[in-house]
Amino acid sequence: MAQRAIYPGSFDPPTFGHLDIAERASGLFDELIVAVGTNSDKQPFLSVAHRIESLTECMAGLKNVQVSSFDGLLVDFAEAQGCQVIVRGLRAVSDFEYEFRVAMANRRLRPGIETLFLMSRDEHSFLASSVVREVARLGGDTSSFVPPVVEAMVREASRARQAR
Ligand code: COA
Repeated sequence: MAQRAIYPGSFDPPTFGHLDIAERASGLFDELIVAVGTNSDKQPFLSVAHRIESLTECMAGLKNVQVSSFDGLLVDFAEAQGCQVIVRGLRAVSDFEYEFRVAMANRRLRPGIETLFLMSRDEHSFLASSVVREVARLGGDTSSFVPPVVEAMVREASRARQAR
């Protein structure tokens, strides 16, 4: 049976840190679904359509990766897609508590689905989507945080917000 994994996230916007985790995970499994989900505690910045479009472009070189989105529980979507593993990135100890709680809840909901953590590379360990949003909002250069396709979308979204 093909080993299929899911890498979920808000990806709002996707950063080089997310792309690094996706690329490394794609080397560990036959198939990887990068899935844009909704974190109900966060206000969206980029639309889900823009997040999917930019992730699809960034993942174009990885032939075993598909990009998708879901509403509702992650484990329901993972199961419906035939994924046996959920991949998450860990940047620092501060991520651990949240990730631990979510992984435990997901295991309780679907004991057959494992969560696998990949440590982010040290050069990405400070990166967060909120940092990118803040730098863009204040007119700074985000080119070392996100790929060009994302940079353009972030700039446009910041401009649109400021015009409101
Ligand atoms: N590199 C850079 N940044 C990273 C990163 C990495 N490797 N890994 C995480 N991050 C950052 C993100 O940039 C983001 O930063 P921000 O908070 O400043 O915006 C933060 O870590 C976490 O974001 P992300 O990994 O995109 O996901 P999330 O924590 O928002 O979770 C879902 C999103 C969709 C996976 C989660 O909310 C979910 O599963 N929702 C569905 C409902 C559900 O099933 N819940 C679980 C049951 S409790």
